[in-house]
Amino acid sequence: MGSARFASRISGIGSHFPSRKVTNLDLAQMYPSLETSDEWIRERTGISERRIAVPGKLEDRNSSLACQAALRALEMAGKKASDLDQILVATCTPDTLIPSTACWLQQKLGATRAWTMDINAACSGFVYALATADQFIQNGQIKTSLVVGSDVLSAFTNWDDRSSCILFGDGAGAVIVEQTAADSPQRLLSHHLHSDGSLWDLFHIEAGGSNLPGNPDVYAGKLDKMQMKGREIFKSAVRTLADYAVMALEENGLSVSDLDWFVPHQANLRIIEAVAKRLGFPMSKVLLNIDRFGNTSSATIPTALDEAVRDHRVKPGQLVLLDAFGAGLTTGSLLLRWG
Ligand code: ACO
Repeated sequence: MGSARFASRISGIGSHFPSRKVTNLDLAQMYPSLETSDEWIRERTGISERRIAVPGKLEDRNSSLACQAALRALEMAGKKASDLDQILVATCTPDTLIPSTACWLQQKLGATRAWTMDINAACSGFVYALATADQFIQNGQIKTSLVVGSDVLSAFTNWDDRSSCILFGDGAGAVIVEQTAADSPQRLLSHHLHSDGSLWDLFHIEAGGSNLPGNPDVYAGKLDKMQMKGREIFKSAVRTLADYAVMALEENGLSVSDLDWFVPHQANLRIIEAVAKRLGFPMSKVLLNIDRFGNTSSATIPTALDEAVRDHRVKPGQLVLLDAFGAGLTTGSLLLRWG
């Protein structure tokens, strides 16, 4: 990328989810007023089950999920927490507004040398954070970064809203990003990011920030929970995911047939199928975990990639495209050669 002295490579990856599994049937039985069914959810979204944090459980906090994912990534990379120069946590559901989830994670890991911050780009957060780490590594300021996508969307889910509550789950995925030579064959090749804040009302949480702090009326009206215009997001997501995939490939002089794996944000299987069709890319080379984990926001991409790295589908030197969209609206793609 450009004339940078260095490049970045991912040397370790890991994921972690809460242990509580909630199937579609469980949801339909827990909330009968939703009048939903396993069949409807599977057919319209591709989701069969998701993991949901138990409120108040220490192990299910955002930073606790992030910590377990990070420990796995560190182990794969052969690194210690004290080797980390930087910790970036992509999240829109922090443990607390202050301090950042990255600070909570830092003290859990004992990563005393690192500087840390959260990045909120909703479901695009992991791609944004990975691109940010890459910049610090390329310019030589740091050598080793921990990038985590971690979200506990269940804390902001309106369980009375059947069009949104069926979609989400909780989880965390982490990568260790290390400095490598600028011409290394296995490296991050490019990233393309874009946001359109004028589309904020397609997916937002009205209260709980400084605009409207929580109060009894806010809680009664569920204004502290996610509100979504599902059909509009669907259309916008298909268009932007396809556009940013093509942009990533074209700007590297590559075509869809060069791609070994496509790792899109997992919000709805039908969105992913529509994007693959537009690109003329086979679904057999799309990494999916939405069936078992639902939409885990910033965690969908690293967790789907982790699974495929660990079962040896993704091999060193293969071309992998990460492609995300999320609330904001935000979007971004990142192309890399694995290893
Ligand atoms: N169970 C049963 N019926 C339902 C349910 C449900 N859970 N939800 C909606 N329906 C009904 C609707 O009421 C509607 O009934 P009607 O025809 O009698 O009015 C019917 O199903 C069809 O509703 P649609 O909204 O047209 O259904 P659609 O096929 O669009 O699916 C969905 C809805 C799943 C929300 C889809 O639009 C979607 O996935 N959109 C994208 C959402 C998304 O990506 N959100 C996150 C983006 S940002 C981020 O990732 C944080």
